[in-house]
Amino acid sequence: MRVSLTVNGTAHAVAANPADRLSNVLREDLGLTATKVGCDAGDCGACTVLMDGAPICACLTPIAQADGTVIETAEGLTEDGTLSLLQKSFLHHGAAQCGICTPGMLMSAKALLDQTPRPTRQQVEDALGGVLCRCTGYAKIIDAVMNAHRSNAAPAAPEVGAQIGAGIRHLDGRGKVTGDLLYGADKNLAEALEVRVVRSPHHAAAFEIGDTDAFLSTHSGLEAVLTAADIPGKNCFGAIPPYVDQPVFADGYARHRGDAIAALVGPREAVRAVDPDTFPVTWTPLAHSLIPKDAQAEGALPVHDTRPDNILIEGFVTRGTPREALQKAAHRVSLRTTTPFIEHAYIEPEAGHAIRVGDRIEVFGCTQAPHMDREGLADIMGLPHDAIRIRPSACGGGFGSKLDLSFQPFIALAAWVTGKPCRIAYTRSESMRATTKRHPSDIALTVGCDAEGKISGFDFQGTFNTGAYASWGPTVANRVPVHASGPYFVPDYAARGTAVHTHTPAAGAFRGFGVPPSAIAQELAFDLLADLAGIDRLEFRRRNALQNGQPTVCGQVFESGVGIADCLETLQSPWKRATREAADWNASNPHSALRKGVGVASCWYGCGNTSLPNPSTIRIGVRPDGQVVLHQGAMDIGQGANTVIAQIAADSLGVPVHALKLVDPDTDLRVPANLCHRQSG
Ligand code: FES
Repeated sequence: MRVSLTVNGTAHAVAANPADRLSNVLREDLGLTATKVGCDAGDCGACTVLMDGAPICACLTPIAQADGTVIETAEGLTEDGTLSLLQKSFLHHGAAQCGICTPGMLMSAKALLDQTPRPTRQQVEDALGGVLCRCTGYAKIIDAVMNAHRSNAAPAAPEVGAQIGAGIRHLDGRGKVTGDLLYGADKNLAEALEVRVVRSPHHAAAFEIGDTDAFLSTHSGLEAVLTAADIPGKNCFGAIPPYVDQPVFADGYARHRGDAIAALVGPREAVRAVDPDTFPVTWTPLAHSLIPKDAQAEGALPVHDTRPDNILIEGFVTRGTPREALQKAAHRVSLRTTTPFIEHAYIEPEAGHAIRVGDRIEVFGCTQAPHMDREGLADIMGLPHDAIRIRPSACGGGFGSKLDLSFQPFIALAAWVTGKPCRIAYTRSESMRATTKRHPSDIALTVGCDAEGKISGFDFQGTFNTGAYASWGPTVANRVPVHASGPYFVPDYAARGTAVHTHTPAAGAFRGFGVPPSAIAQELAFDLLADLAGIDRLEFRRRNALQNGQPTVCGQVFESGVGIADCLETLQSPWKRATREAADWNASNPHSALRKGVGVASCWYGCGNTSLPNPSTIRIGVRPDGQVVLHQGAMDIGQGANTVIAQIAADSLGVPVHALKLVDPDTDLRVPANLCHRQSG
């Protein structure tokens, strides 16, 4: 059908299938990519636009329903290059971190402000309730909407030399509030072929792929079917070189439900028309293990033949005589905690495109680690590193998972084989099935203390479900024993972390590499121990807090700067007040099902790699016209690296931060080792 609609004041007539999603038409036909697609199910709200003034999810709206309507998208908020008050307020309040939710937030807020220019906080919360943000915690967004009627002038430029810590606006914020910033799926390559991955429907299965030539010949338009046989280099990748074990395409043995076995390549309509059940593959489902206990049971199927008992790796730290100390302890507690898989759930699913340029491959897409991607892809493609160019898009959240390769090998191979641009955007369910998660943990912990509440013995055994592939499992298994004491002085200590393979998606990096689950167990044990010893829970922690000059469980001694005791000291008076108020409330409401409580907990976390060098380089130069250029490769995934690193560089150089020009982390612009301006390890 032919659909007429007015978008941001411009009339359009488009030919479309009546059931096409409005979001697709806006993005693919009209090139208005500020409207994001996070879930295609009306859950995340990233695709919120206004239809005749009312906010709607464009992904749930058939284009036929939009016929004759007036649509407003985030692109329409900027007039002649001037930001609206609402956009300025988002910038002013730092309300856009990774920015992927920002257009949806802005449009929901606009709908509210058009009706209610000075809303209450509750009205703002209600209006934004349909749009999810994984970065900000919402407070800054709500503040931005409530203050959108103000001029929100930019803060005064900080003094040169005092820019670190100054509350400046994000240097890369404008593109996030205008919708101009391009994420992995936002480059509209009309001629690009689409890549769709065929995945295992079984937790564990042997399989045989049939006649793909015959399959191709019966599916008009498809240009290629790719399998393990098409990989020119190594059919293997991973995050940590000694443990690489993940095939691009499984080769005869699928290790989890979601393992890739093949990819279909062709024009979008041709690829989407394929019924996946017609793909020529014969499956033989195998016994599978979804939890470490089953994977380590006698007779369990090995996930990898080379890893006995399905153990990927064990990490161990010991200090002093923990067993003897526990025997001597006046009080002891033993507990077991478990935590589940956790999905990162960034709003932007994995997406990008690849182009073959002669004997090189260029990949544009979302990533946290462009240089690691380059090295991994070079091995897969059998090409030298310099033949791979990674051009990172903006990254709509990562939280650890986008440190691993995911979609990149499929599009790189497809572009290499077909010679045409190829693109992919994972669906939300594909992202959840195929990419890494937080490791589920199963922790057994025994801790003792003497009569004065000083820790006397600590024995920690943590088992982490690392899934089908290693990913960052070695980091988790090694990092947890280093951190499991928490920021306390524990002279007699033993901690073991074990990463166990199962037939589940690979568990990988996720904010803290296993340390948050270990902190849950340790802090819970401290609560119980404090209660046993009859010591206030905060006071118990104060007595054991690590001090300057005391060794950590690994023997590291900080001569200064250990601040945990000061933090706990500062909590004393609010802690007393809160515990008293909770006790009073409980006493006055003895029959209420609701009980009030107060908690206190500490956590510590080391920066950089564990037990390995973690070098980084940065390059600063002056162009002939006097422009100071900063080139650094840390991806800004919403944490503010582009702004904070520029502030540090500006203060180091003694120039205003706005005098710096930032160069993005394109791997073709990498810093040659002999030109490193500064190196730290
Ligand atoms: Fe909201 Fe990243 S800023 S999801």
